[in-house]
Amino acid sequence: MKRLDGKTALITGAARGIGLEFAKAYVAEGARVAIADIDIDRARTSAAELGEAAIAVEMDVTRQDSIDAAVADTVGHLGQIDILINNAALFTAAPLVEIDRADYDRVFAINVGGVLFTMQAVAGHMIERGQGGKIINMASQAGRRGESLVAVYCASKAAVISLTQSAGLNLIRHGINVNAIAPGVVDGEHWDGVDAFFAKYEGKPPGQKKKEVGEAVPFGRMGRASDLTGMAIFLATNEADYIVAQTYNVDGGNWMS
Ligand SMILES: NC(=O)c1ccc[n+]([C@@H]2O[C@H](COP(=O)([O-])OP(=O)(O)OC[C@H]3O[C@@H](n4cnc5c(N)ncnc54)[C@H](O)[C@@H]3O)[C@@H](O)[C@H]2O)c1
Repeated sequence: MKRLDGKTALITGAARGIGLEFAKAYVAEGARVAIADIDIDRARTSAAELGEAAIAVEMDVTRQDSIDAAVADTVGHLGQIDILINNAALFTAAPLVEIDRADYDRVFAINVGGVLFTMQAVAGHMIERGQGGKIINMASQAGRRGESLVAVYCASKAAVISLTQSAGLNLIRHGINVNAIAPGVVDGEHWDGVDAFFAKYEGKPPGQKKKEVGEAVPFGRMGRASDLTGMAIFLATNEADYIVAQTYNVDGGNWMS
């Protein structure tokens, strides 16, 4: 018996990176998954690699029609949604006086609005079905405190922690657990982009910021997407039924709260 046998999951932003690693781990635990992403070509390639247990779903979490269509598509193909992981996000960085309003709007539309309105759509389905569910939001250590060059992304991830608390309190009466994971620094394409921002604003050679943040982690290295899968599986099982509205740091010891 695997831990997620018979379960289905919708994972946003799962064409690559952490979301894809979650999809792989869920399939290995017996779940069927919808790999939902704005990059549908990559979502299709990733889903094909996972075989029959995975489908690719086109989804732009900033658009209500796209959220509704992705939820309907997932329910149509997989029968129901037991687990939602709100994982899609965008990183941005700039000194305060250079923050661009369009950039701010885009980051908040994805990282905050995307989380809120995807939760709303999937919670509606879960309530109608009457069998509860698990919602996991991807926060960040960036949501625990501000950072000099990262005001917008940090604020968006603080909002994810807050939304997790409010939604968690509101939805537990329906048997829906809402919790979040706050990773630290996880190597991959996302962090290649972060490194490029710091190269630009701090004049560091490419790769230098990654090296520094990795060495600063108490565990002794940057995180890997696979370091997060244990928590993502646990929060989706019945073992986590009594856990409500929490955000768990999985960051090698970077943050304690
Ligand atoms: N990598 C890290 O160090 C780190 C640290 C803390 C938190 N996180 C969080 O973990 C999550 C996953 O991070 P990652 O490193 O895998 O990121 P990533 O950038 O590699 O992947 C993000 C995915 O989201 C998709 N996406 C972007 N905009 C979208 C939209 N509008 N609609 C649907 N999909 C969209 C992208 O196409 C991509 O596949 C994010 O929420 C991120 O903020 C990451």
